Amino acid sequence: MATDPSDRAGRSPRRTATVFTAVTCTALTLLATSCARGEDEAAGGQDGGDAAAQAQVLDEAAGSDETCSAEQAGIDEFDLKDMKVGFSQSEAESNPFRITETASIKKEAEKRGVELITANAQSDFAQQISDVQDLMSQGAEVLIIAPLNSDGWEPVLAEAERKQVPIVTIDRQINGDACNDYVTFIGSDFVEQGRRAADQMIEALGGKGKVAILLGAAGNNVTTERTKGFKERVEEKAPDIEIVFEQTGEFTREGGQSVTEQLIQSNPDIDGIYAENDEMGIGAVTALRGAGKQPGDVEIVTVDGTEEAVQLIIDGWIHGVVESNPRFGPLAFDAHESFGKGEEVPVELIISDREYDAENAEEELPNAY
Ligand code: AHR
Repeated sequence: MATDPSDRAGRSPRRTATVFTAVTCTALTLLATSCARGEDEAAGGQDGGDAAAQAQVLDEAAGSDETCSAEQAGIDEFDLKDMKVGFSQSEAESNPFRITETASIKKEAEKRGVELITANAQSDFAQQISDVQDLMSQGAEVLIIAPLNSDGWEPVLAEAERKQVPIVTIDRQINGDACNDYVTFIGSDFVEQGRRAADQMIEALGGKGKVAILLGAAGNNVTTERTKGFKERVEEKAPDIEIVFEQTGEFTREGGQSVTEQLIQSNPDIDGIYAENDEMGIGAVTALRGAGKQPGDVEIVTVDGTEEAVQLIIDGWIHGVVESNPRFGPLAFDAHESFGKGEEVPVELIISDREYDAENAEEELPNAY
């Protein structure tokens, strides 16, 4: 799989398949029937959905060539089966992204017979720091963290280092020293998600019009990178698209709705809305409906892939959705398992994302979350 240098666009052959062997089954899930069967149990998808299609798949052309091993990190090798795992969730589980992410971690722990303790910081960063410290006090020997913010983790990192607790971060990054502070980051290429959202907006508007951005919450790499990718692509490909409004909707439905209500007041002639997640996009639809708009009056593009957003494509309210797959359980546990065995784990594992539009929304709806 990864041994052919020609499949790496000029980069040295990635070592994912050779040094991170446990991930191979997950990465090959779309190709190998035996893997797909295992993933059936792990993916945690909708009824009627295709578990193999729902599972996260590593993007073999992305990620890092740099690796981390227990020896490099100065941590004793371990058998994950014997460890107590702590999982820290960042945001409230009202967003299907968070519900699915937590369910995927719990399901994978259960499948492997690993003891799991969890905490949810409800979007309060100080709470998340104390949550993770509590998890360690309760005996968590291994951590999976979905960070709310990217900076400010020093107290946790210092304690984890002192206690020899390896950390895998999922969906957002912690700014720190790879391998010293954390083993690996698993998530999407968020700049690319922004570019793909821009491509969808450019197509929807025929390359011309006024666009608003509903920004995600501040203080994390996801918002920064989704914004960067979108703006760069618009600037590069559609100079006649003008970004006239940017405001955070905090990644929440209520935030997306109230910001869109203000937007319609200040910019009644708005042509498109890029919402940096589905929840804000769904809030925008509610605001537009309330203002008497019809589907297609304002073109909306979002990121995530929730069932409700994909249904809104079918209903004509949302033009397209770039997927961000939250089913991190299998890869997160694979990463810790490999690390515990003394294997080298890439310090960044990037997953590939699909997208939904009017062409495939109906067929793909059962694979949304
Ligand atoms: O970090 C991932 C983002 O956070 C998801 O797109 C969003 O739904 C969540 O709030």
